[in-house]
Amino acid sequence: MLKIQNISVKISNSIILKNIDMYIKRGMITCIMGKNGMGKTTLLETIIGHHRPYLGHINYNGVNISKLLPYERAKLGLAYVPQGREIFPRLTVKENLFTGLSIKNNDYKLDTEVLSLFPILSEMLDRYGGDLSGGQQQQLAIARALLMRPKVLILDEPTEGIQPSIIKIIKDVIVHVKEVKKTTIVLVEQYFDFVQDIADEVVIIDRGKVFKSGKVKILKDKNIKNILAV
Ligand SMILES: Nc1ncnc2c1ncn2[C@@H]1O[C@H](COP(=O)(O)OP(=O)(O)O)[C@@H](O)[C@H]1O
Ligand SMILES: [Mg+2]
Repeated sequence: MLKIQNISVKISNSIILKNIDMYIKRGMITCIMGKNGMGKTTLLETIIGHHRPYLGHINYNGVNISKLLPYERAKLGLAYVPQGREIFPRLTVKENLFTGLSIKNNDYKLDTEVLSLFPILSEMLDRYGGDLSGGQQQQLAIARALLMRPKVLILDEPTEGIQPSIIKIIKDVIVHVKEVKKTTIVLVEQYFDFVQDIADEVVIIDRGKVFKSGKVKILKDKNIKNILAV
């Protein structure tokens, strides 16, 4: 469904991603793993159009989207939950959710189905985004992305700095949108057990290159454990 072919990216003259090849399968959960600074966030940002690769291209359902702007990719169904969440602190929860909808025309209704996945948000619609806890903000960021009814949900370290009870909610939501909504999921994650629980496919990134990719069971390889060891 999403084919990343030979992508190379430079940021201020240093090469950050080198000849990345990756295939994201429809309806699957693909987890991108790797230590800090290896290029995981840059890879997601390249997929959604925040970086222009100097080599390679990205095909989505057979269409070359490499030249499309981020909002055009969003219209095609790619939704992004950034690392650090990027909630608008001075907007209310409800207003933050509406920013996710602005990509769709004439559709300013909050989807009760999405809200029902996050009961805590429904109780906090008029609170400021900045007053929410980290875990509540992460739920808000995911809800905001889901309101676009994406075909591909792309998340950058959704469990980072989040307490276990909220991680459980996030895991259940991700599995729900995969199983019930048939949404394709791509997530960067360093939390090993979380990946082992939910991933179908994994891609290991090391110093800007794909070290290895395959079914989740490759995480058991000793080489891969070494690459991921902090
Ligand atoms: N805006 C930027 N300017 C310069 N270097 C950057 C920028 N963004 C990322 N980098 C560098 O690119 C590399 C990969 O970063 P990143 O994709 O954020 O890694 P990860 O998400 O795997 O921790 C790092 O060495 C980082 O310092
Ligand atoms: Mg990152």
